[in-house]
Amino acid sequence: MGHYSDITPLKFEGDRLYILDQTRLPGAEEWLEPETADDIWDAIYKLKVRGAPAIGVAAGYGVYVAVKHEAPETVEEFRAVFDKVCEYIKGARPTAVNLMWAVNRIKNKVDNTAVTSVNQALDLIRDEAAAIHAEDEAACRAMGEYGLTLLKPGMGILTHCNAGALATSRYGTCLSPIYLGMEKGYDFRVFADETRPLLQGARLTSWELNKAGVDVTLICDNMAATVMKQGKIDAVVVGCDRMAANGDGANKIGTSAVAILAKRYNIPFYMFVPTSTIDLETATGEDIVIEERDGKEIYEMWYERPMAPAGIKTFNPAFDVTAADDITAVVTEKGIAYPPYSESLRKLVTGEDK
Ligand code: MRU
Repeated sequence: MGHYSDITPLKFEGDRLYILDQTRLPGAEEWLEPETADDIWDAIYKLKVRGAPAIGVAAGYGVYVAVKHEAPETVEEFRAVFDKVCEYIKGARPTAVNLMWAVNRIKNKVDNTAVTSVNQALDLIRDEAAAIHAEDEAACRAMGEYGLTLLKPGMGILTHCNAGALATSRYGTCLSPIYLGMEKGYDFRVFADETRPLLQGARLTSWELNKAGVDVTLICDNMAATVMKQGKIDAVVVGCDRMAANGDGANKIGTSAVAILAKRYNIPFYMFVPTSTIDLETATGEDIVIEERDGKEIYEMWYERPMAPAGIKTFNPAFDVTAADDITAVVTEKGIAYPPYSESLRKLVTGEDK
């Protein structure tokens, strides 16, 4: 057993980025050392690092290591390489807004500074990436504390996908209150949906909760209604990849079905959304781009042989949008937002009433 605060998907040490290859979990803990823009793109696209906040942090350090690898000699060369690397890394996955948010934040920092040397520019990128990393860790801790005020000792809690430590810098978003509660002796019983097709619940959530000593039970996605009906679930907690201004939230495929079921069984459904994942520029869930992935993930990727006839047609959207109406509350690092979300979210993010 380990301590939950030791679980992290990436490290930046000795000027190098290390990524825990999540496609190898739970069987092996292998650390990758990406150096080039292609290495970073591949790690994000193939979900070696995944989960909206962790993707943002990896992209931030990723811009640094990739630009440094190209060894630009003049400020002009630096600018050309930097712009190219930023655009390329942003294209690795479309739905989690943290990817674009983190890269744009680094780009604005560099573009708005009078850069006079390549080393100064590289320092700027690295420092901004480190700030994003530190802020994410603090945000997760704060979401844990706010989230815990919504939960009671002994509760049965259902979660979908992985919005835990592995999806963030540390602690997780929706698993953070579970870890903090454990320290207070809250004895939660967590039910983890396996989360087809990429099994983030089975491979990652059950791995990290089990490692930290949390009581976790793995179920197939289609068993959620049964455990709800049996009275085993008192609350649902999930993460988010992009929340629109009206409170519609994109998260791992299957989340919206869980929210609809929770409503049917009068179970509160809490979405944990750091403000870096709230996209006020996107009006509603209709405007969120949903990533579609290779159908082989459904019938081949985790099996020894294909589990469908050759040439079968597939449809493999990686995310769905939970309607704002089906979300009981949105937990952010700045506080808990309640409906109507078009007002409460804007107020939390900007600090302004209108
Ligand atoms: O495809 P993934 O594994 O990157 O999807 C991850 C999720 O859907 C998470 O729930 C979300 O990113 C929130 S992580 C705190």
